Amino acid sequence: MPRYNRSLRLRSEPTRQGMARTSDEENGRSEDQELDEQPLRTRSPARPLVPSRHASASAVAKLILCGEHAVVYGRPAIALPLTGIRARADIADDQIGNGIVVHARDLRRHWRVANDPHGPISQLITSVLSYFHITPAPDLRITISSTIPIASGMGSGAAVATAVVRVLAAYLGQQLAPAEISALVYASEQRFHGTPSGIDNTVIAYEQPIWFVREPRTENQELRAESSDSSVVLHPSSPLIVPIAIATPFTLLIGDTGIRSATRLPVGAVRQRWQAETERFEALFDQVGAIVARAREVLEHGDIPALGLLLSHNHHLLQQIGVSSRELDALVGAALTAGALGAKLSGAGRGGVMLTLVTPDTRARVAAALELAGAKRVSATVVNVFRPAP
Ligand code: MEV
Repeated sequence: MPRYNRSLRLRSEPTRQGMARTSDEENGRSEDQELDEQPLRTRSPARPLVPSRHASASAVAKLILCGEHAVVYGRPAIALPLTGIRARADIADDQIGNGIVVHARDLRRHWRVANDPHGPISQLITSVLSYFHITPAPDLRITISSTIPIASGMGSGAAVATAVVRVLAAYLGQQLAPAEISALVYASEQRFHGTPSGIDNTVIAYEQPIWFVREPRTENQELRAESSDSSVVLHPSSPLIVPIAIATPFTLLIGDTGIRSATRLPVGAVRQRWQAETERFEALFDQVGAIVARAREVLEHGDIPALGLLLSHNHHLLQQIGVSSRELDALVGAALTAGALGAKLSGAGRGGVMLTLVTPDTRARVAAALELAGAKRVSATVVNVFRPAP
């Protein structure tokens, strides 16, 4: 595996972006609590609770800029938060004896957690309560809604789960660091999606552009030996999460094929192909890793045309990995023909969304070309200049 440029981990400070508003905050009585970053298993019993009668929280969608699939096999990937599209959770006391009732507005479903012990959201709620040592379960009504298209590669499941974790914490008068939120959501994703890399829950919890390497075990010793900085946090099996600099703003159009694709299916198909042709797939993943490393450099230097070429190259590799589709290829081809600087599928593939890098001059033409080529929805996102805290 090639070596990748390494730097410091994200510091685990709580973000107020997307964090919950509690009734205390609404009354101007927000509490500044000291946060810790203990692993889930060793968290000490809950601090004194200051429960709210109701609370709200939200979480962003995400976009994988480059490196999907290869990231599952230890190569780096770059992911961006999409702050304009969100999942939301509201929580309020319910009648005594009702237990916890969840209303999923978009799915037009509601259920009692006690009657759905194996459902993903129910299990997540149970694990958050046990994280805070809350027994018995309180009587609550949790309402979930989201503007993130489901199974489209934009992290809808992880965003809903993040909003639920945040709203429960707020209701219970607790504040969670992004690392804690991410770990709770990852545990839930693992139960239902097999072997996710963890990039979705991470970028959604931190809400920053990130460079992510899953469990860089073999390189940890290297990092430990190289680093004289005491703020580098090393855990043998935790991912490397680094906020990345973006020197020049750029615009991405997101074209949705309208075809829903559950992440675990393409991820499982890639695993089978990797098992059958390990050498070939390892070589493809290495090439993706090299593109991602180069993309990080061009983002840091603001070389947007170079980024475009890298994105298109990444798409070719994803085609060879076997996760593109006729519809995704049609959108990528239409964007490039209309003058986009680069284009690729984004997320797990086989359906879902693609992204394309445009300039002010080409934006309208590329958007029209995407619609003509069959995009069910085209949206734009501006990725702003970002300088990680020193
Ligand atoms: C899904 O957003 C990205 C994949 O690489 C899967 C994963 O990283 O868990 C396809």
